[in-house]
Amino acid sequence: MKFGIDKIGFYIPKYYIDMRELATMRGIDPDKFTYGLGQDEMSVPPLTQDMISLATNAAYNTISEQDLNDIDLVILATETGSDFSKSGSTSIVSLLGINPKSRCIEIKQACYSATAALQFAKNHLQSNDDKKVLIIASDISRYGLDTSGEATQGAGAVAMLITKDPSLLVLSDKSSYFSEDVWDFWRPNYSDTAIVDGHYSNEQYQRFFNQTFEDYKEKYDRQNSDFDAFLFHIPYTKLGRKTLINYINPSKEIINTFNQSTLFNRKVGNIYTGSLYLSLISLLYNADLDANARIGLYSYGSGAVGEFFSMKLVEGYQDALDPNLPHQFDTREKLTIKDYESMFTAELVSDGSHMILPDDNETFQLKEIKGHRRYYQKN
Ligand code: CAA
Repeated sequence: MKFGIDKIGFYIPKYYIDMRELATMRGIDPDKFTYGLGQDEMSVPPLTQDMISLATNAAYNTISEQDLNDIDLVILATETGSDFSKSGSTSIVSLLGINPKSRCIEIKQACYSATAALQFAKNHLQSNDDKKVLIIASDISRYGLDTSGEATQGAGAVAMLITKDPSLLVLSDKSSYFSEDVWDFWRPNYSDTAIVDGHYSNEQYQRFFNQTFEDYKEKYDRQNSDFDAFLFHIPYTKLGRKTLINYINPSKEIINTFNQSTLFNRKVGNIYTGSLYLSLISLLYNADLDANARIGLYSYGSGAVGEFFSMKLVEGYQDALDPNLPHQFDTREKLTIKDYESMFTAELVSDGSHMILPDDNETFQLKEIKGHRRYYQKN
């Protein structure tokens, strides 16, 4: 039986900044951000869009009324959780009206956990093949104003519906994974910004790629030329490009496909768990691949876990894509760097007091915090 991605969609906040303007404000050559890091714009979330509302909006953009009844497992993959106990997916199930006879969890392993969720989903469907699994990868990437990581922030969520006989991509059983205790990037419970050893994290990302890709090829007797496209976790697009060039010796076609797979990421920035899957969406919307094209995917989560795995495109996949989804980019509002800084430093209450947030006119938003509880609203 075949399992894989039947639907995929995303949601990004309605605000963004221009990376060249950010560089100028910080006294940095703008080419460093656009060419050196490969980022043009960066999504900025208002206080009304937390990880849970981003995730709910992404799922709303992706699934149908029928899917609400058929889903019986919801996995929220995130490293921006707001609660150590209650999973964000319990809020999402009620906000969207998903069948309450569902299992709901939130999982964490830095930017890797949505990939683990995919494998869990496949296993679940093997014994529940009339059901569907909703996976949402949702994050807000924060390093702090005027830090070396500032240019690699971002915010957004990707939702995927995993089913039997999917319309978009079939997930292969073949996979190679590798884990090791590495302190390259982490965020202690008491901090709302990440701690990172930037250059070391780049080295670990590439070392884990080499480890998992070589292991995959050896285990399954595969060659570089067996793949029609390579997708990467994209903290910033230049790192994916460097890894592709350094380890794969790519053809012009493969480089061209890689460029198409990073068009959306260049405009959004790092969305941690969703970054690899936003790159997949960018590929599906911007490249023209044949049915049965084999796509190699590299997932990396600092700390660290890496996995190389593959999917095959389904015949007629283009017909299963919602043509309106990318229009989100057309309606975004550009912020000045000063306005971005104010948005970045705005804080939700954490002392149990009552806070009411303004309407933001997005489909779902955080509306109120009262007695340490978060309340969401559908606009
Ligand atoms: N014109 C063109 N290019 C320029 C330039 C200019 N004027 N100035 C610099 N550059 C180039 C540099 O040559 C360099 O390119 P190479 O990587 O090809 O050498 C690139 O711009 C970046 O320059 P620096 O290395 O000097 O930049 P930096 O020291 O300020 O930091 C960073 C870059 C380490 C990525 C930093 O932004 C950071 O720490 N980011 C967060 C960590 C991160 O994203 N790590 C990725 C791996 S970990 C992971 O993937 C998990 C995750 O999501 C966090």
